[in-house]
Amino acid sequence: MTEDFTEEEKRGFYKAIYSRRDVRSHFTSRPIEDGILSKILNAAHHAPSVGFSQPWNFILIKDQDTKKKIKESFEEEKNRSSQLVEEPKKSKYLSFKLEGILESPVNLCVTYDPTKFGPFVIGRSSIPEAGLYSVCCAIQNLWLSARTEGVGLGWVSILSNDTLKETLDLPEHVIPVAYLCLGYVDEFAEKPDLETKGWLPRLELKDVVYFEKWNDKENKNWEKIQNMIKDNLDYA
Ligand SMILES: Cc1cc2nc3c(=O)[nH]c(=O)nc-3n(C[C@H](O)[C@H](O)[C@H](O)COP(=O)(O)O)c2cc1C
Repeated sequence: MTEDFTEEEKRGFYKAIYSRRDVRSHFTSRPIEDGILSKILNAAHHAPSVGFSQPWNFILIKDQDTKKKIKESFEEEKNRSSQLVEEPKKSKYLSFKLEGILESPVNLCVTYDPTKFGPFVIGRSSIPEAGLYSVCCAIQNLWLSARTEGVGLGWVSILSNDTLKETLDLPEHVIPVAYLCLGYVDEFAEKPDLETKGWLPRLELKDVVYFEKWNDKENKNWEKIQNMIKDNLDYA
């Protein structure tokens, strides 16, 4: 397990990262084979977690009635959140396709259980959110594994957690972290939909990297990398 990645393996790894997309449309009717779904879930289960607490659970959903309830919650929350934004952005927001709950063959709720392995978890006493961060690591593993297997995944966060908890019978202490829609797709777009539609651009790497202190973008001790990250490094 200590051996280096070959050049081809490295290319595969970065290909998964750069070609991963949040997918809300383009789902096909092809079911996800159980073998593939198991692989994807196992990739998620091998994520890092604070104190090795593995605080996640994965609820697989294909029941149409459940999906319909979740979709109703999405519609309600989308309308509610649209009140927070002024025209013309409001109409633009409302026109976006932001979920594929009914079209995707499998929905998956990823949850966080802060009580797993008792109250003391190594590394979580000072930053309790580390438990939630661990679940997000699992979700990213899942997302990249799905892309590698040609399975599209869309994250739906325009939902009421109360509805999720009630619909999925979650215990009071369990937190729904992500509601995901999975299925084979006939296209992975080259760019994020929200970029293509002109909602927001991708920021440049050089504008998000600081040196030594907050907001220091020009530090002479880091000159070489400062120049390197001015170029587009995608697929480099
Ligand atoms: C925590 C989280 C919540 C998200 N919620 C939604 C959502 O409710 N609806 C949606 O269409 N996309 C959602 N997305 C997807 C983002 O819009 C998407 O990741 C972003 O626009 C970049 O596109 P990409 O994932 O294709 O690179 C969510 C992503 C994350 C990480």
